[in-house]
Amino acid sequence: MQVILAPMEGVVDHLMRDMLSKVGGFDLCVTEFVRVVNCLLPKKVFHRICPELHNDGYTPNGTPVRVQLLGQNPEPLAENAVRAVELGSHGVDLNFGCPAKTVNKSKGGAVLLREPQTLYDIVSAVRHAVPSEHKVTAKMRLGFDDKSLAFENAAAIEAAGADLLVIHARTKVEGYKPPAYWSWIADIKQKVNIPIIANGEIWSYEDAINCQAQSNCQDIMLGRGILAMPNLARVVRGQQEVMNWSQVNQLLIDYSGYELFGDKGKYFPNRLKQWLGYLSRQYPQAEDLFMQVRRLRDSNEIVQVLQQQR
Ligand SMILES: Cc1cc2nc3c(=O)[nH]c(=O)nc-3n(C[C@H](O)[C@H](O)[C@H](O)COP(=O)(O)O)c2cc1C
Repeated sequence: MQVILAPMEGVVDHLMRDMLSKVGGFDLCVTEFVRVVNCLLPKKVFHRICPELHNDGYTPNGTPVRVQLLGQNPEPLAENAVRAVELGSHGVDLNFGCPAKTVNKSKGGAVLLREPQTLYDIVSAVRHAVPSEHKVTAKMRLGFDDKSLAFENAAAIEAAGADLLVIHARTKVEGYKPPAYWSWIADIKQKVNIPIIANGEIWSYEDAINCQAQSNCQDIMLGRGILAMPNLARVVRGQQEVMNWSQVNQLLIDYSGYELFGDKGKYFPNRLKQWLGYLSRQYPQAEDLFMQVRRLRDSNEIVQVLQQQR
C-alpha cells in the first residue's frame, strides 16, 4: 500500500512536510504547485517551494518529494518539468484539479478538465521532454461542472504517457463538500491501466478501508485528514493508534520552532490557528486552545500558551 502526502498550497510547506514525514507513514510527498505561465522559471523558484531539492529531493528523514506544476501551456510546462527533475525532484506531477478562481481564469488547474485534448497535449509534451527514468504523474478531479468527461480525461492522461494518476473523487463544483465519490475511481480504474491513487475525504482508519473497498485502489493520498490527525498515515497502515493530545501538543510546540526559526515566522500565528481548525475535528482540546490563542498575533505569546498546555 502506497500512502502519499497531498499537496496543499498555503498549508503544507517544506516545514510541515519535514514534520509530518517524521511522524511517518508516507512513501512520497507532493509539493504545493509551481505556477508556470510561459517561460522557464529561475531555479530559485523551485528551491523556494521545494528546499528539499538541496537534499537530493528528500525530506530530512528521507521521504522523496515530487514537485507539482500547474499551467496550461504544454511547452513551458515541459521545460519546467525538465528543470524540476534536473534539480532533484522525484518525478514531476501535473495539477488538473485546482479549483481557485484566479488559477482557473487563466486556464490552469481544474478548468482544463473541460478539455481532454489539452490534458493530452500537456502530459504528452512533459512526458516526451522528461527523461524516462523520472515519473510523470497527474492529479485530477472527476470533472469541472459535472463528471461527464471523467473517463475521457483519465484516458487522455494515460494515452499521453503518464506513469500514475491521482484522482480526487469530486468535481470542481463539488469543491471540498462531502462525500467523495470513491466508486467513480473504481469505474475509471476499469478503463485505464496506469496505477491510480485514490484521494478525498479520508479522515480515519475506517474511511481508508471504505475508500479502498469502494475505489478498488490500495494506494491513497491523504490531505486534510493528516492535519486533523497527524499520524493518520501510520493509523491507516495499522501501525499506530491515533495520537493522543499530549503528543499533538508536542508537535504544535515543535511546529512553532520550525516556523519561528524557519523562514515563515511571520506566518506562524495564522498557520497555527488554521491547523487548530483542522485538529478540532479530531481533538476537542484543539478548540479550547484555539479560543485561547485566537486574538494573539505575537508568535512568542502563542508559544507560551502552547507550553502551558504540557
Ligand atoms: C488548502 C488546500 C490547498 C490545496 N493545494 C493543492 C495544490 O497545491 N495542488 C493540488 O493538486 N491539490 C491541492 N489541494 C487538494 C488536495 O491535494 C486534495 O486533493 C484535497 O484536499 C482532497 O483530499 P482530502 O479530502 O484528503 O483533503 C489543496 C487542498 C487544500 C484544502
